[in-house]
Amino acid sequence: MNQSEPTLEEAAASALAELSSISTIEALESLRVSWLGKQGRITDALKTLGKIAPEQRKAEGERINGVKQRMMDGIAAQRSVIEAAQLQQRLASERVDVSLPGRGEGIGTQHPLTRTLERIVDIFSQLGYVAATGPEIEDDWHNFEALNFPPDHPARAMHDTFYFPDGRLLRTHTSPVQIRAMLGRTPPLRVVAAGRVYRSDSDQTHSPMFHQVEGFVVAEDVSFADLKGTLAEFVKAFFEQEVEMRFRPSFFPFTEPSAEVDIRWGDRWLEVLGCGMVHPNVLRNCDIDPERYTGFAFGMGVERLAMLRYQVSDLRSFFDNDWRFLGQFR
Ligand code: FA5
Ligand code: MG
Repeated sequence: MNQSEPTLEEAAASALAELSSISTIEALESLRVSWLGKQGRITDALKTLGKIAPEQRKAEGERINGVKQRMMDGIAAQRSVIEAAQLQQRLASERVDVSLPGRGEGIGTQHPLTRTLERIVDIFSQLGYVAATGPEIEDDWHNFEALNFPPDHPARAMHDTFYFPDGRLLRTHTSPVQIRAMLGRTPPLRVVAAGRVYRSDSDQTHSPMFHQVEGFVVAEDVSFADLKGTLAEFVKAFFEQEVEMRFRPSFFPFTEPSAEVDIRWGDRWLEVLGCGMVHPNVLRNCDIDPERYTGFAFGMGVERLAMLRYQVSDLRSFFDNDWRFLGQFR
């Protein structure tokens, strides 16, 4: 045997001495393979057993297996050391520092439009109005025809309607709920209906989806003075402060006479609602006798009223979902 070539024992002893400097499972595994793997030193050594004299075989086998056992024990021990160190490291890095300040709970707020809409409906509920609803996908009859818009009437063009291929449409106002609520009921009626409406329209005071609150009263002897008084009371209750308000003559096919109401907005006026006395044709379309009953109706823009109440200069900011904006309305 060559002098400079270390014996199996010597090589094993120096490998075992180096073991403690191995700090990763990967490095330890490659050491294990080089000793105990299919082509490892121990395996090679055991293969030589067949070539030596039978009487020496037992002693030689015990010698090699002794080395094998020491290597196995050493490697297993170092594996535990490495795993324990890795666990310590993980525990340290994942430790929860209970002294850190908490993240805080972001408490949500109601959307200003929801608050405004509920506020409007509340005011009318207190006046004895009963809530009604209708679908956002409407048919032409409820949205236009029953409301006294004849086919091809130019007033239809004022609504910039979104149509479906089958002729149905996204309701352009909440007035079709008047029809749905009047049909099958007999006066006296006092109804409020809130919801989304849609028009192809967008600027500082217009949005393609917006909200309206519709209200109407049908009974005997309802007059335009009742309408004016009701709306004046509403404006007082809604704004809780003096606002300048004006009735301006207008036109709707379903009311006669008709008016729009504007509220002072800086040095301009902002239109907030349309209203009027329910047209006899509309009553007739709902099987209500216009000789006996009269009614008034109004439809208000929720975004417009919210703009005024919260002093918001661009209606579209209600739809941006910017928390810095929405968070102001607690
Ligand atoms: C109507 O929609 C009528 N149905 C109102 C009515 C009801 C009249 C009952 C008579 C009897 P007008 O198109 O003017 O009317 O809309 C009513 C209100 O909705 C407006 O005064 C305005 O405040 C608001 N509004 C209209 N278009 C938009 C829009 N694109 N974005 C936001 N608000 C709007
Ligand atoms: Mg209008």
